Amino acid sequence: MSNDKLIALSLPNISGNEWKYVKDCLDTGWISSVGAYVTQFEQMVADFAGAKYGVAAVNGTAALHISLLLSGVKANDYVILPNLTFVASANSIRYIGADPLLVDADSDLWQMDLDLLETFLEDETDIRDGELIYIKDGRRIGAIMPVHILGNICDMDRFTSIVKKYPLPVVEDATEALGSSYKGQHAGTFSPFGCFSFNGNKIISTGGGGVIVTSDEELARKAKHITTTAKASPDEYYHDEVGYNYRLVNILAAVGVAQMEQLPGFIERKKEIVKFYKDAFGGVGDIGFQQELPGVETNGWLFTIRTSRSEELLKHLDANKILSRRFWMPMNKLPMYSGCPYITRNDEAGSIYNSCLSIPSSTNITDAELEIVAREVKSVFNK
Ligand SMILES: Cc1ncc(COP(=O)(O)O)c(C=O)c1O
Repeated sequence: MSNDKLIALSLPNISGNEWKYVKDCLDTGWISSVGAYVTQFEQMVADFAGAKYGVAAVNGTAALHISLLLSGVKANDYVILPNLTFVASANSIRYIGADPLLVDADSDLWQMDLDLLETFLEDETDIRDGELIYIKDGRRIGAIMPVHILGNICDMDRFTSIVKKYPLPVVEDATEALGSSYKGQHAGTFSPFGCFSFNGNKIISTGGGGVIVTSDEELARKAKHITTTAKASPDEYYHDEVGYNYRLVNILAAVGVAQMEQLPGFIERKKEIVKFYKDAFGGVGDIGFQQELPGVETNGWLFTIRTSRSEELLKHLDANKILSRRFWMPMNKLPMYSGCPYITRNDEAGSIYNSCLSIPSSTNITDAELEIVAREVKSVFNK
């Protein structure tokens, strides 16, 4: 096989009932945010994750925004966040007028460093009148947002035992982690709110979309209320608070239902891809992988390697029509968030950013394409 075709990073895989269900929406006229597919999709996601309720949203960012609001985060609060995350996590905090309080990543799992978190909470915060305060500037810390980066999960037992000592609501950014679990418990269900994303590069995609999962009936009711303009009367345009027009539309939820039907197969394929790459790159140059803790099952969302030669590798893959992508630039390096507090020893997030490269991991990548990627990656180290 020649490699004159572009090998993409993480494409949607539209190979099930998507056409059929979308056609159903078009044929019946049920295309807006009121429709049976929305309810079906949100329940399918909740059931898959092992949560009681799902509330669909226009995207993962909106799901995070609403979850933070319902957790009681207010303007001028801090929300503890890993420095190494996609910008949407931080943006959802800023939409409320709060600021991220950044914690560095750990070198093995690339998740929030729990040693740093524990020491920070012990030494640099105080509980005053039942609220958690950052001693340095007296501002309240309203919540913590762990992010299950690349579908991996940190030691959730330890995380939970650390945060439960403090008045600190948790909102899980599980946007990348549909299909990932820790000791049999699905990502997004360790806290009152877990948020998933279904944008174009996620393990399932609705083009754009999100779901909040929760097992608390009242929180689910509030989330649905506030994402649907807070309309409080069925007969009248009476809205009892400032709501949001955040509900996913039926036509996209129809795609989501078809995607959910295929999710187990997609997860299997991601696992095959992870195994293939780990076998292919073990012992090659200084290539390292994201580590997983015992008890963690990741969905293998986007395979990412770490090497001191990432820049050279990126250029070589690019020249060979293979898409690869650097990690997100850490939040402390972005102009909007560079002034936020950053809890770190040696800026591990910065060094992960400088040395990591995500490589093609679409569920519809062919075995022949995987061979091409492996051959080209290895060729850089065998020069
Ligand atoms: C870590 C993380 N948080 C939040 C989001 C936001 O999701 P969305 O793009 O659906 O708004 C994404 C995905 O893009 C993400 O990867």
